[in-house]
Amino acid sequence: MSRKPLIAGNWKMNCDAASAVTLARDVLQRTSRLRNVDIAVMPPFPLIPAVLRVLDGSPIGVGGQDVSAELAGAYTGETSASMLTSLGCGYVLAGHSERREYHLESDELVRRKVGRALDAGLIPIACVGEKLAERDAGETFSRIERQVTVGLGGLTPAEMARVVIAYEPVWAIGTGRTASPAQAEEVHEYIRNLLTTMYGSEIASATRILYGGSVKPGNARELMSQKDVDGALVGGASLSGEDFAAIAESAG
Ligand code: PGA
Repeated sequence: MSRKPLIAGNWKMNCDAASAVTLARDVLQRTSRLRNVDIAVMPPFPLIPAVLRVLDGSPIGVGGQDVSAELAGAYTGETSASMLTSLGCGYVLAGHSERREYHLESDELVRRKVGRALDAGLIPIACVGEKLAERDAGETFSRIERQVTVGLGGLTPAEMARVVIAYEPVWAIGTGRTASPAQAEEVHEYIRNLLTTMYGSEIASATRILYGGSVKPGNARELMSQKDVDGALVGGASLSGEDFAAIAESAG
């Protein structure tokens, strides 16, 4: 089963209206030749319309960095999945480690967010990953198992077929310390085996599993050459059009 790689840029809480437009234009221009890779950017919520205006009609997808687990109503500060769809977004992150850490998001909440995203027609990019203390304690696989089985449990096969997973070891995010290609592959393979148990081999072998955590132009190619690594979720390096395009190029 060949999986088309996806390179997604998580801009986090960076840019303003003007610099977001400049960055989106730069990404568009530098990636226009690439055919064998899907590309998406996740700007902060208020900047999404401006970025969509730049990327309208292009193959570059746009997504939110988070989504409410609720449908609509009195939830101050929240953004619903259908709002994102109505703007023209195609993707949304769910359960990024910064949401888990600073907003205490649980695997159960992540599951509800994934459900809302799917119901609204978005592609959820569900993030999983162990902390350094968990890795050091030999708990990497048990942590990932819970995040995947709870966070992505009970979906229909058709729903699961639309989900993207991002494995991001928390100790590698924004630290400059990347997982080695072998460390990444070991967990990606584990996740794919889990998906086989949960949803069968056809869905497992079609699901894209991205790696995230200090992905840069210099390490992207080797990471993505691993058997079960199907692209990257890029934070810091996605704020440079040049670096992000170079990463996309190494995938496609
Ligand atoms: P980083 O962030 O590339 O800056 O490590 C990745 C992420 O948090 O998605």
